[in-house]
Amino acid sequence: MKILGIESSCDETAAAVVEDGQRLLSNVVHSQIDIHAQYGGVIPEVAARSHIEMINPVINKALRDANLTWDGIDAIAVTYAPGLVGSLLVGTLAARTLAELHQKPLYPIHHVEAHVYANFITDQTASSQSSRLDTPVAEGKSVVQPVLAGETPSANEHIQKGEQNRGELSLPTQQPAFPMLALIVSGGHSQLVLFHDHGNYELLGETQDDAVGEAFDKVAKIIGLPYPGGPSIARVAEHGDPQAYQFPKAKLANPYDFSFSGLKTAVLRAVQREVGVDHTFPSYGLPERLNGLQQADFAASFQHTAVKTLVDVTERAYHDFQPASVVIAGGVAANQELRAQLKERLPLSIDYAPIQLCTDNAAMIASLAYYQQRVVAPTPVDQVTVVPSLSMRRTAWA
Ligand code: KG4
Ligand code: ZN
Repeated sequence: MKILGIESSCDETAAAVVEDGQRLLSNVVHSQIDIHAQYGGVIPEVAARSHIEMINPVINKALRDANLTWDGIDAIAVTYAPGLVGSLLVGTLAARTLAELHQKPLYPIHHVEAHVYANFITDQTASSQSSRLDTPVAEGKSVVQPVLAGETPSANEHIQKGEQNRGELSLPTQQPAFPMLALIVSGGHSQLVLFHDHGNYELLGETQDDAVGEAFDKVAKIIGLPYPGGPSIARVAEHGDPQAYQFPKAKLANPYDFSFSGLKTAVLRAVQREVGVDHTFPSYGLPERLNGLQQADFAASFQHTAVKTLVDVTERAYHDFQPASVVIAGGVAANQELRAQLKERLPLSIDYAPIQLCTDNAAMIASLAYYQQRVVAPTPVDQVTVVPSLSMRRTAWA
């Protein structure tokens, strides 16, 4: 069964075709990072407009890369929750229109649940190689114009650029076994979930304040590193001493919960102390007072504490629940320090998903949809709505 997945919940416009939940036939991602980097974060209205511009070219390229026409697509899956409302609306509207037009069953998918399914993709066809579409840029600004058929010169131009970036993914050799412990860590989520089976899971713990990716992004801003903060901190941390500064770890009533806002504030206070200003000094004035070595030491020390927090909780849950497999998911799962520490601390080998499938993509949406459609009926096109905030307490399968 071949499912077209569509993802537009935040700042990536993505489409992919996945066969039987596990074989990648195409994977196209258009990232808006270049657009948002100049503001230091995602601007919701700008994100929605970029999605409008790119959604059709991205979908058309996903079909083309998979060597398929609409006849070859069995169903459409789209992210309906959680995310930015304007961004979610663009993807769901495109999916609803295409499902109606081509008479395909439609499955609304929970973005956070879907992150876990990046780990279920174990196979790819030779023609499936992932590609990124570049943002159309004119005089430093993105061109905001609706593209209806993906055939305008600007869309074609970016599609060709994307084709130059093709790359084969290094996929896990087999799918994870149940019960499966999943650490889901992204810009909006930090959760530890025990999956008994597909669609049957319990939330063991979650962040009580900031998501861990959000903490990476905020700390990067404090020490003057570019958005998105996760990769910037990881890069600079390589040159720093992870023991240079000691930051406290939050103690919480539920041993599987997380908290990252205290850590972020601890970094802010330590930077203020280091450069000799008091706690009222604004954070935007701090980067210019830090030298490269201090910046690297703060990045390394913060990353060390953030990763240790995640690994301590995961290790405890592993011993308490004895799962058959452990997976990590979400943008922060791209972090090499997290991968290395988990490997070291857990007595089982983890077959990590490739980084391209950890950050936002549509292959994970199409993969989850395959398992969901085996037990859940498609949703009538006019009943697909967006839900900007939806936790993982309630399964999307019910
Ligand atoms: O899953 P994702 O692409 O989008 C959300 O659903 O949030 O995750 C984005 C988050 C950002 O906060 C980014 O800073 C973080 O993932 N991230 C990383 C790394 N790569 C991306 N955090 C730490 N280390 C990385 N290498
Ligand atoms: Zn995500």
